[in-house]
Amino acid sequence: MIYSQSESEIIFSSNSAIEIAKIQEVWSGKIFILTDENTLRYCLPKIISADNQQIKNITIKAGEKFKHIQTVEEVWEFLNSNGADRKSLLINLGGGVLCDLGGFAASTFKRGLDFIHIPTTLLSQVDASVGGKTGVNFKSFKNEIGCFSFPRKVIIDPIFLETLDNENILSGYAEMLKHAFISGQDDYKKLQKFEMTKSKMDYASLIDLIKHSVEIKGKIVLEDPMETGLRKVLNFGHTIGHAFESFYLDSTNEISHGKAVAYGMAVELYLSHKKLGFQKNKLYESVKYINTIFGKPYFKPSDYEVLYNLMTHDKKNESAQINFTLLKDFGHPVYDQTAKKEEIFEGFELYLKN
Ligand SMILES: NC(=O)c1ccc[n+]([C@@H]2O[C@H](COP(=O)([O-])OP(=O)(O)OC[C@H]3O[C@@H](n4cnc5c(N)ncnc54)[C@H](O)[C@@H]3O)[C@@H](O)[C@H]2O)c1
Ligand SMILES: [Zn+2]
Repeated sequence: MIYSQSESEIIFSSNSAIEIAKIQEVWSGKIFILTDENTLRYCLPKIISADNQQIKNITIKAGEKFKHIQTVEEVWEFLNSNGADRKSLLINLGGGVLCDLGGFAASTFKRGLDFIHIPTTLLSQVDASVGGKTGVNFKSFKNEIGCFSFPRKVIIDPIFLETLDNENILSGYAEMLKHAFISGQDDYKKLQKFEMTKSKMDYASLIDLIKHSVEIKGKIVLEDPMETGLRKVLNFGHTIGHAFESFYLDSTNEISHGKAVAYGMAVELYLSHKKLGFQKNKLYESVKYINTIFGKPYFKPSDYEVLYNLMTHDKKNESAQINFTLLKDFGHPVYDQTAKKEEIFEGFELYLKN
């Protein structure tokens, strides 16, 4: 299945090796493939044979901790010393960290190389590879440096999910859940019925759910690629989610992006109830479901202030106010919402208690 999304072509394939071969046939410039330690081991052999001399591999360290400008420099260094020019292509084979970082490295090297994403985590398949956001973290601020830049193609192949651990499957599931919250209760119920535990997972149905999730995001991005309005609905769960993610980034219990977003959605549902009348019964059912799937983060009232400070640095803020997307109901997201510090603390309080 192929459809166009903004300037990227999205291909759902069950044989991405063939897609790579097709690219090699037509691409006249040099081709580079970026992997991290894990995708080098688990994913690269699935698409390129070891004796392929035409594609040069660059490998970076895995994980959010390495999503910073020094790693981008390593990629630039490799491209530079291997003669990359404006006709070169960078293929990003990995999760959201690698797609964000590789997309940014390609978009800034010699003012921009073409790049292709082959997302290998569930999260990057349903979210990070789609929509043209690239970037890296700066100090403790998430995605503080970056640019909008669309990959030539996104190739989504479920084969990569076979080696992904349960924690990362759950992380992607959180973004699928976010898409369902903003698209409607039917989608939310459909997801709830799906067995997300890896050993019991039905891959055929998962592909349909991935496609639908990408469609939800794709439609929104198409209408508002640069996030001047509507696209902000995709930030549901992220204002508080990013604060949780940054909060745990330097600790020993670092949490996945998706898990942080799930916690963020729970607190933002409380705010949705308080500010926009999201129904109480739906609130408690949803938070209970989120708790069952994702557990709860460890934080205490003395941490509220730290979390709040992290939120005040969020890019989504305008005129010094913390910006949220909240829900009036399933399928009725409202962007550009704000909340007072006390209301946010009250959200944390209720979340800790329930
Ligand atoms: N650009 C966007 O629109 C957007 C949207 C959502 C999230 N993001 C970003 O995505 C990042 C999170 O992405 P992620 O959760 O994919 O993290 P990730 O890229 O760190 O991948 C998670 C882990 O899985 C490993 N891995 C990747 N594919 C594998 C495979 N097939 N088998 C085994 N291991 C594999 C990675 O090496 C890593 O250790 C965050 O930095 C977030 O900010 C960006
Ligand atoms: Zn996200």
